[in-house]
Parts: sequence; C-alpha cells; structure tokens
Amino acid sequence: MTEIIDGNEIADRIKTELEVCVETLGNHGVTPGLATVLMSDDSASGTYVNMKQRACEEIGIKGRHHELDPGTSSDTLEDRIEALNENPDVHGILVQMPIPDHVDEQTILERIDPMKDVDGFHPENVGKLVTGDPRLKPCTPHGIQRLLAETGVETAGKDITVVGRSNIVGKPMMNLLVQKDNLGNATVTTCHSRTNNLAEKTRNADIVIAAAGVPELIDGSMLSEDTVVIDVGVNRVDADTGKGYELVGDIEFESAVEQADAITPVPGGVGPLTIAMLLYNTVKAASLQENVDVDLP
Ligand code: GUN
Repeated sequence: MTEIIDGNEIADRIKTELEVCVETLGNHGVTPGLATVLMSDDSASGTYVNMKQRACEEIGIKGRHHELDPGTSSDTLEDRIEALNENPDVHGILVQMPIPDHVDEQTILERIDPMKDVDGFHPENVGKLVTGDPRLKPCTPHGIQRLLAETGVETAGKDITVVGRSNIVGKPMMNLLVQKDNLGNATVTTCHSRTNNLAEKTRNADIVIAAAGVPELIDGSMLSEDTVVIDVGVNRVDADTGKGYELVGDIEFESAVEQADAITPVPGGVGPLTIAMLLYNTVKAASLQENVDVDLP
C-alpha cells in the first residue's frame, strides 16, 4: 500500500513542540516577532502570507504584516527593511517572493539582517549552510528533511533526484541532503530545464523531489517502483471549479501513486511543513538574539 504522507499531521506535531519553546521565551519576557512584507498583487502570494501570519498567531508568535504597493521604489522597501532590522521586537523578517521586476531581489535579500533572515536566503546563511555550519535553514527544504525523517525515510546512502534549481528550494535542498549529518548523507542529482533525459534520472532515484514549478511534469512512467515522491509544486491551472482554477503539483498524482512507496499530496503535503519551519526559524532567531536557550524540536 502506498503511503500518502500527511504533511498537516507532521506540521501540527512540530508546532505543538514549538509552542513550548515560545512559552520558555515568554518566561524570559520575550515574545518572538515575525514581520512579513508583501509587495505584490498576486493573490496566491497574499494567501501564502496570510497563512504564515495565522500560523504565528496559533503558537504565540507576534505577527506584523506590511503591505506595500507593487509600484513602491526599491529605496522605500529597503528603508522599511532597515527599520525592521532596527526593531528589537522583530526577530524575523520575510519578504514574500516574487517581488516586482523593478526591484532587485538579491539586493533586498542582502538588506535583511542575517540574524533575522528566517527564510535563510541571505548569502551569509547560504554560505553557512553550504560549509556545513547551518544557522537558519531555508524553510521548504528543511521541512522536506523533517517530513522524510518523521515518515521514517532514511536519506543516508540514498540516490535522491531533485528536479528544480531555484534558490528557494532546489539548490538549498541539494546542499542540505549532501551534508554529513543525520538528515543528509545522500547522493544527490539535481535536474533542471536543460537536463537531458530527465526520466532516466528520476527512474534511478530512491527519492524524487519535484520542485520545478511545472504542472504534472513527472508521471508514473518516469518513476521506478517503491520510490518516495515529494511534490513541492503548487501550480494553479484553469479548471471548472468555483474559483476557476485547481491546484496541481509537479507530479501527476494518479499515475505516480501507483509506483510510489510513499507520496506527498498537493495540497496537504510539503506546504504545511514550510510554514512549520518558518515558525521554527522565528523561534530560533528569537532565541539567538535574546540569548535564551530553548529546546527546539
Ligand atoms: N515565495 C515562495 N516561497 C517562498 C518562501 O519560502 N519565502 C519567501 N520569502 N517567498 C517565497
């Protein structure tokens, strides 16, 4: 029987443990604070940020949401980030991506104080991760590591194919999985739009992690039996539903589920773990900035 991995259940367990950490911080007079910045009209981005803020509230993190008009200048956005860097009540800062083209994404990411960089996208945090001394790990890849561990899937010695090379998922995923630690020690193949014979790479894998942002890119014919399949894709495709669209992953679920040993659904797979690890990073950032030890899950 193929296991359908319940991301909500795993995320809820992590959130319950994080609540205890928030209590410990509270006993030292510290309320962890997360500032989110949205500079986009995109309704999906708005939905994601709302979900992040709601999750903060659930476990006692103080959320502060900043919405900027998409036409806002880079200078104004940078000033806003600077003010958040200086604000001692804000321990984590997240600028929801993508941002409009007239603003350089890398400039913005580098403006965020690396100690408050709860996305783990600042070059200092990327460098620490690559050199094996991670501080704040990117939320989605870290969440996938936790999801695999909680499902009892070992990564050590496994052949893992990551499809996608974004700075948000693909590249940090590859870097985390090759680390010499208990959630790593894998042999990783990273594929992308210029990869020749993708199916050969996915068929050779014990674990496939699909993060290309292409609806149903990978189907069952591209997988070997007993593969663990992790679907990071959240693609809106036109459909005859009330909303006019439906969400599909990068995996063609109906055929992949026939081959897989375990598989994440969309929604309800990786997404909840991304949010749980954002909360984790916010608690960790608060603990580091306030010098209060917490027992992170
Ligand atoms: N857009 C899509 N995923 C993410 C994420 O993990 N963090 C940020 N800041 N923006 C995103």
